[in-house]
Amino acid sequence: MTNHEIKINFKEYHSLNELNKPDYELCQEAIKALANSHSPYSKFRVGAALRLQSGKIVYGSNQENVAYPSGLCAERVALFHCGAYYPDDPIEAMAVTAQTDEFEISQPVASCGACLQVLAEYEKKQNKPIEIILFCNNGPAWVMNSVESFLPFLFFENGLLKEEKGER
Ligand code: THU
Repeated sequence: MTNHEIKINFKEYHSLNELNKPDYELCQEAIKALANSHSPYSKFRVGAALRLQSGKIVYGSNQENVAYPSGLCAERVALFHCGAYYPDDPIEAMAVTAQTDEFEISQPVASCGACLQVLAEYEKKQNKPIEIILFCNNGPAWVMNSVESFLPFLFFENGLLKEEKGER
């Protein structure tokens, strides 16, 4: 038996003011994205903003549905928008925040596993890491350099990339 230990690394900033200017500005865009959250069921608004290499900002917010599993998280709304509209403009960073009137959020909300898996797909596709910034209203901001810090056991199987096996 071998016991493995995995260390992850992220930076905690006490407030958004400590972030560098581009990241601070991206957080302000994520706050704007909250306005379009459609969350009548959970009443939990999530806003995401992605900064592309060109400087373009892409927004996402959670979109719920009365058939609950048909809804989608803010992160995936934004990521799929990038994939569909700006496939050749690499994603540099993603800022995510959440708000609710139901209770106080005092810690950044971590993206769900499905969103991290989707993020990993785009990192792989563009061959560049995507910085992740998670923050909440009156709490700290957490910054990770790549999804790998977040989800070390993300699923990836190069064998599924048929062209790498020389098949059609
Ligand atoms: N949600 C997100 O938008 N992102 C996440 O990473 C986790 C959860 C949304 C989904 C749902 O609309 C609400 O938060 C409550 O789960």
